Amino acid sequence: VNSAQLVVAIDGTSGSGKSSTSRGVAARLGLRYLDTGAMFRAVTWWLLREGVDVHDTDAVAARVHEPAILVGTDPAGPGIMIDGVDVAVAIRTDEVNAAVSPVSVVPAVRSRLLELQRDIIGSGGIVVEGRDIGSVVWPDAQVKVFLTADPAARAARRAAEEGGSDLTATEQSLLNRDQIDSGRATAPLVRADGAVEIDSTTASLEEVIAQVVGLAESVEATA
Ligand code: DC
Repeated sequence: VNSAQLVVAIDGTSGSGKSSTSRGVAARLGLRYLDTGAMFRAVTWWLLREGVDVHDTDAVAARVHEPAILVGTDPAGPGIMIDGVDVAVAIRTDEVNAAVSPVSVVPAVRSRLLELQRDIIGSGGIVVEGRDIGSVVWPDAQVKVFLTADPAARAARRAAEEGGSDLTATEQSLLNRDQIDSGRATAPLVRADGAVEIDSTTASLEEVIAQVVGLAESVEATA
């Protein structure tokens, strides 16, 4: 394995620090970065804009193939466009937070995005974050991480990112998403075979990044 072929899969619950960790690891190792959650969020944003009922599985499945989706892979600023609109900021609203898990259970949504995700991963050289990367999207990833943290710690981080949102409401919203993400039939959130579990409750971001970089370096050294 050299870094041009390396795939680092980082899965975990909402607010466990996946994005900051994944971007940090990609920057340190000179790899590309793919935020698969942003892809589910972009599709959700577009369905809401189109007035589609996100709880109507058939309606979601009927429309999901329509919009063009363009995803950037620069860890310093991964952009995302859907139907020609830059939605990097718009996909982080409460409205999208509340609708993204129901949209993500729809098999037609997952299969469209799975194909795009595999195209982008290509021959490797990338850190990919999500819920099902090590289990479904890229089971052959040389490094698999399952990132967790206590709900209160996750809510505190999310609320800080979102500029002081209500803590209890933020924690409730995270737990709701965890429950739907873990309970769905297609590609639920699970710890993949061979994934190293890292609990970030008390670790600093730098410590978690260093741990994942260490895993990647040991894979490169043994290959
Ligand atoms: O990582 P995030 O919070 O941006 O993800 C938003 C939602 O997208 C998450 O609640 C479930 C869905 N998702 C998914 O189903 N599979 C992935 N690989 C990534 C995200």
